Amino acid sequence: MVRANVIRDGSLVWQEVPDPIPGEHELLVKVGATGVNAADVMQLQGGYPAPPGSPKDIPGLELAGVIVLRGPAVTRFHVGARVMALVGGGAHAELATVDEWSAMEVPDNCSLTAAGGFPEGFITAWDALVSRGGLSAGERVLITGASGGVGTAAVQLAATLGARVVASTRHPEHASELAGLGAAEVLEATEAVGRGPFDLILELVGGSHVADALSALDTEGRVAVIGIGAGRTTELDLLTLMGKRARVFGSTLRARTVWEKAGATAAVRKHVLPLLRNGKLRVPIAATFPLERAADGYDHLVKGGKFGKVVLVRGEGPN
Ligand SMILES: NC(=O)c1ccc[n+]([C@@H]2O[C@H](COP(=O)([O-])OP(=O)(O)OC[C@H]3O[C@@H](n4cnc5c(N)ncnc54)[C@H](OP(=O)(O)O)[C@@H]3O)[C@@H](O)[C@H]2O)c1
Repeated sequence: MVRANVIRDGSLVWQEVPDPIPGEHELLVKVGATGVNAADVMQLQGGYPAPPGSPKDIPGLELAGVIVLRGPAVTRFHVGARVMALVGGGAHAELATVDEWSAMEVPDNCSLTAAGGFPEGFITAWDALVSRGGLSAGERVLITGASGGVGTAAVQLAATLGARVVASTRHPEHASELAGLGAAEVLEATEAVGRGPFDLILELVGGSHVADALSALDTEGRVAVIGIGAGRTTELDLLTLMGKRARVFGSTLRARTVWEKAGATAAVRKHVLPLLRNGKLRVPIAATFPLERAADGYDHLVKGGKFGKVVLVRGEGPN
């Protein structure tokens, strides 16, 4: 038996559960660190059931740890290797299974704590900015909700790609840290609408911010809707949408199939991992909590005002 954070009647209970058994192409990973995400909180509150094939009552979408067992058909990695990955759930536990093609090696210069907060933010940001948003060098990009896990990843990635990065946050005290990650300008959340035009807007806040984004967009601009913390509905001016020949698109990662997640991971392994390895990217950590005190980590995320990721860490072993 291992221990895990299990959802029981809307609360997290640290309790023993049966060992997860790796499938043919899965790795069994001893979790060293695992990020906390808004989706975990929504799952705990009962509004976001686990995707098919994932543990129904153990949240956790990303992890870093050490491989302790390989499924019979696994061809990648070896027992003892440090890996990190995006999973459909089950990461807020001592042991979790990971599809071998969704696993990435943790660079030697990266702690497990940082690696545990890497996959969700960086895969989401790369997928939205580059794979779907088509960001290219020289373009002006606005990243809203820039102080969070996805935002701090997106600012760094966009700057590394040679885009002109504008970050918006409702925390002016984060301005110098965002500039340090590569933002050329840092605006307060309410200012951004008047500071266009932007070629691409990574909309991590949602609600009426999406309508504002459309009005701040350049001709042929794109709005990537990735977060809805400020609401899931808004009114869009369709004449503006047409006149700008604009594109508003959305995406989620959690519900994707194993193969789709592996595809998104492959792009990050190829284009982003080398930048983590050579120190050009980092994972800002807002706070860490012991794995068995996950509820405190969830509370910290909900409280807001943080810069970067909230990560749960295992009390023993190297981090
Ligand atoms: N579609 C996907 O695949 C996907 C993947 C990952 C995340 N997401 C979503 O994307 C969003 C960002 O994720 P994250 O991991 O970066 O979350 P996070 O670390 O909690 O950061 C969210 C950021 O947005 C800010 N924010 C929230 N509501 C706001 C509002 N009404 N006005 C201005 N700023 C606001 C927060 O500020 P405060 O700190 O002041 O609250 C925080 O800085 C979340 O909604 C998450 O659920 C989607």
